[in-house]
Formats: sequence, structure tokens, C-alpha cells
Amino acid sequence: MIVFLIGFMGSGKSFYAKGLSDYLHVPFIDLDQFIEENQDMSISEIFEKLGEPTFRALESVAIKQVYEDLVVRTTETQQKNDILGVISCGGGTPCFNENMDWMNQHGFTIWINPAEEIILERLIKEPQTRPLVSSLTEDALKEFIHQKLLERKPYYEKAQSVINQPDITISEFVNTIQNAKNLL
Ligand code: S3P
Repeated sequence: MIVFLIGFMGSGKSFYAKGLSDYLHVPFIDLDQFIEENQDMSISEIFEKLGEPTFRALESVAIKQVYEDLVVRTTETQQKNDILGVISCGGGTPCFNENMDWMNQHGFTIWINPAEEIILERLIKEPQTRPLVSSLTEDALKEFIHQKLLERKPYYEKAQSVINQPDITISEFVNTIQNAKNLL
């Protein structure tokens, strides 16, 4: 069983993915980082040089590669329901190429869903690494978050579990998942 963390940019996917993997002593993989290492380019460079459609194609291939890599590490003693690894997706991963359905079929999906204002606050602080928002003013960013979330919600809502509290601690996060699915 692989856990996929999904949600908008700035929702805290990497933070909770890392926390969960530390707690469970299982590998954590950040999908964007995996793509950057494979392409030897930053996400911004990939968008700039290859374009977003190519990035989306790379992303769909990467999610399957990362999954296979984690599953291959499974030992015979591990149970079907053991969590073998945690993957932090990019904000758009669930919304392209039927990735969301694929993730739901192959693992346990968790949507990190803080309020729009919290996402805005976080993205204002660190927009430069994210090509979709790096050139936006604060007002434009606010509108972008609102519109993109509306567009993406139908995909995010397919997640098997959702975390709505913005500042939940790692142990509360683990408890919430435990309750959601008697897995851990
Ligand atoms: C994107 C989110 C980014 C990254 C790329 C596109 C998106 O990941 O994959 O810039 O479409 O929302 P984070 O959500 O980790 O910032």
C-alpha cells in the first residue's frame, strides 16, 4: 500500500509526507524532485524549455515509476495493508491523464485541503519556484488560487481521505488517517 498525498500548491503535502514517512520509517518521495533529478532541470526550467504539456506527460510517467520502485522494495513479510512508502504529488498531478483514478486504484489517496487564505499566505512567501504562479501579483495570485481550486476540486474530491485542518500536527495527522482507514 502506497500513500499518495495530493492538494494544491502550498497545501503542505511535502511536510506531511515527510512527517508520515518518518513516523512509519518508510521511504518518502517528492514527485517534483524525482522529475527534476531525472531531467536534470528544475520544474521552472522544464516548464520554460519543454512546456507544460511535456511536464504533464513526464509527471504521469514519473508517478508510475516511483510507485514501482517503492513496491519492488516490498519484502515477503510485509502485509498487503502495510504502508510501504509515501509519495508527495505536485498540485496538478491528480488533474491530468487520469492520474487520480490510477492513484486510487494503486494506493491510498489523501487530500490536504487548507483554506484559500492559508494557501495564499504560503505562496506569497515562496512563489519563485512555482512557474504557474511566479509572475503573479498578490491580487492575481488570490484570483488564480480561487479559480484553479474550483477547476481542480472535482479531482481532489476523489481522494479517499481529506485533511481540512490547516495546522494539524504530524501525530494528529497520523491519528486522522488511522481513523479514516484502519491501516497503520
Ligand atoms: C503544479 C504544482 C507544483 C509543480 C508544478 C505544477 C501545479 O508542485 O508540480 O509547478 O500544477 O499545481 P507543488 O504543488 O508541490 O508546488
